[in-house]
Amino acid sequence: MLPDHSLHTSLQKIKETKLSEHAPRVLVLYGSLRPESYSKKAAFEAARILESFGADVKIYDPEGLPVFDRQSYEHHKVQELHELAQWSEAMVWCSPEIHGNITSVIKNQIDWIPLSIGSVRPTQGRTLAVMQVSGGSQSFNAVNSLRILGRWMRMYTIPNQSSVAMAWKEFNDDGTMKDSSYRDRIIDVMEELFHMTLILRDHSEFLTHRFSENKSDAE
Ligand SMILES: Cc1cc2nc3c(=O)[nH]c(=O)nc-3n(C[C@H](O)[C@H](O)[C@H](O)COP(=O)(O)O)c2cc1C
Repeated sequence: MLPDHSLHTSLQKIKETKLSEHAPRVLVLYGSLRPESYSKKAAFEAARILESFGADVKIYDPEGLPVFDRQSYEHHKVQELHELAQWSEAMVWCSPEIHGNITSVIKNQIDWIPLSIGSVRPTQGRTLAVMQVSGGSQSFNAVNSLRILGRWMRMYTIPNQSSVAMAWKEFNDDGTMKDSSYRDRIIDVMEELFHMTLILRDHSEFLTHRFSENKSDAE
C-alpha cells in the first residue's frame, strides 16, 4: 500500500510543523593533522562566520581518531564523533586536495559516522556544506568527492561550495583569513547553509521518509 502523500496531507504536515527557535547546531570537520593546516584554518574561519550569524558551532579535532576498523566503537574519539554527529543539525566538511582527491583524515571521520545507531540517524536529513583548500590553482576534485559522500550519508548538500586555491597565500599569521573573494565565498556558503538549515531542520523526518524502508510496516 502506498503511503498517504496526497497534496493535502503533505501540505498539512508541513503546516502543522512547529519551527524550532534554538540556534542551529553545526558540526565542522576538517581533513588535516598538520599544525599549520590551511584546511583547519579555513574550517575555523567558517565556524566564526556561522557563529556571527547566531549558530551554535562545534569543531571536531581528528587527532587521535583510530583508522576505521569497524570495531573500535568504544574508543573515546569515536564516541565523541558519534555524539557530535547526533547533536548536529548541519555539518561543514573541509578537506585539502591531495593527489586530486580528499584526504584519508576527512574520509576516516566520515567512515566512522554510521548511517544509523539503533533508531538514531546521525547524518540523514542534515544539511551539509563542502569546502576544500589546495596548494595549486583552483580545482574542485575534493568538493566533488565530498558531495558524493554527502549523498551516501543521505545529507542535503547545499548548491554553493568553497574552493580556496593557493591556500598558503590566504591566511594571516594569527590564523584568520585575509579579506578576499575566497573569504567572501565562504561567507556566502555559510549563509546558505544557515538558511537551508533553518528551513529544513524541522522537516527532516518528513523528508527522509522512505516507502521502501517502511514497506513491511505498511503491509
Ligand atoms: C602529497 C601531496 C599531494 C598534493 N596534491 C595536491 C593536488 O592534487 N592539488 C592541489 O592543488 N594541491 C595539492 N597539494 C597541496 C595541498 O593541497 C596543500 O599543501 C594544502 O594546504 C594541504 O592541506 P593542509 O594545509 O590543510 O594540511 C598536495 C600536497 C601534498 C603534500
